Amino acid sequence: MYFYRIVSFLLPHQQVASCYIYTLLSQNCTPMKKPSLLVTCGLPYTNGRCHIGHLRTYVPADFYVRYKRRCGVDVTFICGSDNHGTPIVVSAEAENTTPRALSERYHHHFDVTFQKMQIFFDRFGMSDDPTNRHRTTDIVTRMINAGYVYPKVIHQAYCPRCSRFLPDRYLKGTCPHCGKQARGDECDQGCGKPLAPGELVDPVCTICGTDAEFREQEHYFMRLSEFGSELEGFLERLKGTENSRNYAKGWLREEIHDWCITRTLDWGIPFPGRSDLTIYVWVDAPIGYIAFTEEWAKEKGIDWKEKWCSDDCEITHFIGVDITYHHCLFWPAMLHAAGYRMPDTVIASGMVKIDGQKFSKSRGYVVWANEEYLDRGLSADYLRYYLLSYTSHTKELNFSWGVYQERINNEVVNTLGNFVYRAMHFAYKEYGGIPEVAPQNEIFSQIQETLDSIQAAIESYEFKEAVDAIMALAAYGNNYIQNSAPWKVKKTDPDAAQQIIADCLQLTKALTILIDHVMPEHAKKIWDLLGVTTPLSETSFSDVLTPLFGNAELKKPEIVFQKLDDDLIKGFEEILKQRIEALAAGEAESERDKEAKKDMMKSEGIKAPQPPCISSDASEEQEQEGGRPEITIDEFSKMELRIGKILEAKGIPKSKKLLCLQVDIGREVRQIVSGIAPFYAPEDLVGKYVVVICNLKPAKLMGVESYGMVLAAGDEAVLLSPVAEVPVGTLIR
Ligand code: MSP
Ligand code: ZN
Repeated sequence: MYFYRIVSFLLPHQQVASCYIYTLLSQNCTPMKKPSLLVTCGLPYTNGRCHIGHLRTYVPADFYVRYKRRCGVDVTFICGSDNHGTPIVVSAEAENTTPRALSERYHHHFDVTFQKMQIFFDRFGMSDDPTNRHRTTDIVTRMINAGYVYPKVIHQAYCPRCSRFLPDRYLKGTCPHCGKQARGDECDQGCGKPLAPGELVDPVCTICGTDAEFREQEHYFMRLSEFGSELEGFLERLKGTENSRNYAKGWLREEIHDWCITRTLDWGIPFPGRSDLTIYVWVDAPIGYIAFTEEWAKEKGIDWKEKWCSDDCEITHFIGVDITYHHCLFWPAMLHAAGYRMPDTVIASGMVKIDGQKFSKSRGYVVWANEEYLDRGLSADYLRYYLLSYTSHTKELNFSWGVYQERINNEVVNTLGNFVYRAMHFAYKEYGGIPEVAPQNEIFSQIQETLDSIQAAIESYEFKEAVDAIMALAAYGNNYIQNSAPWKVKKTDPDAAQQIIADCLQLTKALTILIDHVMPEHAKKIWDLLGVTTPLSETSFSDVLTPLFGNAELKKPEIVFQKLDDDLIKGFEEILKQRIEALAAGEAESERDKEAKKDMMKSEGIKAPQPPCISSDASEEQEQEGGRPEITIDEFSKMELRIGKILEAKGIPKSKKLLCLQVDIGREVRQIVSGIAPFYAPEDLVGKYVVVICNLKPAKLMGVESYGMVLAAGDEAVLLSPVAEVPVGTLIR
């Protein structure tokens, strides 16, 4: 009976359009080609750091991919960074760098952050790279050749003061649909609707605040209005979460307009035949999904068309519900217009809020994935667990540190962690390993029921329910060991005690395989303690029902899940609170007030709160430093720190300590006097990359002007240098 049920579990018929039959267990039928699935995630923009809002797209997608792979599906997991568009140009201008350099920096940042979060894409590409430039040009050309694109003269916003056209984010004003503040191409603060050029009410230039003028300009439009019935059919067939399908159907009923697909912006992919226009970022970004698949396929020696142009591969997009319009209307229409097949599934998450408030960097309602989570030693697995299990995938997720702590401590640590530790500890202590007893049928039924629930939940995109089912099995184990008290039974009935522990270890094994999709780092640790010979990554779902005995050698158990203590969580709450308050007070608080407050705190001996940190090393270091007062990110960003390259170093007459350096900081060569003469021979410094504070007030040292400072650590003035090559002039932030 179990055999049959496992097979049915491995064959979720609805997941693959093709009729390939695949089974892991079958001995009689020849395994045919594996069902194939391509999963993509919304591409992060390269003008800001990763926050936990982003992670609600990537963590569930990774969970889904891990699950599908364990079902035997051949999954290709694709993502990359979105490099074009006005936000990136605006940010690059503000940082005095190029959009490409800015994009490379954030691309790397996201790439590393995802890996730290245990999210591993098969390919993480860049939308500005040649493959995407080529694929975008090709698709737009196909759309033009098929007659779906036409030129039209429109009134385009123009700033007379900045002397430039104002596409998208260069323009702000009032949304014509809902009356909220909005930017040129989208109502980002209100109803979320995309806006066409000229629709915004009372538009002003974002850079200088001048009222926008309107000038005539020729742009290109895609005949989206002709795709009505095609899109209706698409939405009928579309699988995935209901939220995006319903929104898109609603928009379609309201009538859709043709879509302007060009912009007056230097940064982007040129529109074919018009060197003065670039293609709108929302055209080339989703095409990145194809381009990055091409890059992956090329490396593997596979034909990318097997994924994008064949019915044998299902295409699934993971996104946040905020980008539904683009994925459920624009994108399928573009694919269709260019002769490609449309996607099969769109899985859209609800948005992440912070303490009941809409996510907002400018108002401080944000939690940064690195600086305020991973870098402070908090577990990637815990955040994965929280994001997956807190609420249904399509609902808004209201993040708060208190709830995070409660969920982790009560569910992960007290239920799951407690159970697996007790089971392994008792077995190790009493039997020195795994008792040689087959687990009872009741235990296998419990595990099988859990598997069935997980399958049903994931196939209906209810990831929370899937995680709940795993935790229910952990709770079952916890109650079982508690109520059957093997530590007592062993005195009167040693066989019965062995049976209980064999049962509990089987549950532990099953739980470990099941939580591997949610908390892979912790699952690996438990698996190692169980001492199972097969690597966890090579197990399939059928392994949850194969007994442990004979295939594992138990190691001395350790506590795998650590509790989050109150002080730590209070520290994080404090960071958030202070930032929100500081930003709310914002400009209202004058510089003088700030100084006065600082002086008062100093005179009263008040130490500003220190950010919490799990890593003991870091907190020791803070202690040693005497804990300088906390500064806000705004205060930090007042410092202009850049990568510089020393071009020349000379001693200064009559000075034993000082060297006079000429340092290239990108836009100019700076003279900097530095007290490093005792530690470096001038000739050894030439060519070294260093960190320079560029906006430090100039000073005269031994009569020589110094325009900045190079950073060095400790008493021996060890110069700070980037660990990887970074262009000279790159801003440090
Ligand atoms: N670049 C576009 C996507 C292009 S896809 C062809 C974009 N970038 S983003 O950086 O703003 O967002 C990246 C992903 O994170 C998207 O899937 C988006 O929906 C998601 N989220 C970003 N902020 C979010 C929240 N506050 N809450 C939930 N998801 C959020 O959009
Ligand atoms: Zn609006």
